Amino acid sequence: MDRAERTALFTAVTFLGIFFGLLVYAAKGMNVDVPTCITDVKPFTEGKVIQHAPNRYEIHYLARMWYFEPSDVEIPAGSTVDIYLTSADVIHGFHIDGTNVNLMAIPGTVAYARVKFDKPGVYHIVCHEYCGIGHQDMATKIVVK
Ligand code: CUA
Repeated sequence: MDRAERTALFTAVTFLGIFFGLLVYAAKGMNVDVPTCITDVKPFTEGKVIQHAPNRYEIHYLARMWYFEPSDVEIPAGSTVDIYLTSADVIHGFHIDGTNVNLMAIPGTVAYARVKFDKPGVYHIVCHEYCGIGHQDMATKIVVK
């Protein structure tokens, strides 16, 4: 083997060793929080309906094929509700019948709307974006008493 070849080989092996050594060192020292999907953390996993005051609510809706969580929420008449919406899979629609709330549930984003429910009744919520074979059954409701 030529002297130049040996030098080149030695240099390459040395750098490879340093590279892998640093890789192992970095992996050992790593103690970072891996970003979590919004659908895996509170309040989209628990505490979906939060009451702040007698007539102030916050609802965190999670849309997925082919239902909404939470389903069938009950609130008193006169309540103001902050609605947060996201999707766990594909794009869904979110329309509350009898209100002007019309949102899109897009994975990775949170849509927001505020609505005041003055009149008692059943407010149906439907998915209005085609999202698969169960699309036409994707609905829930807010019951205002
Ligand atoms: Cu969800 Cu259509």
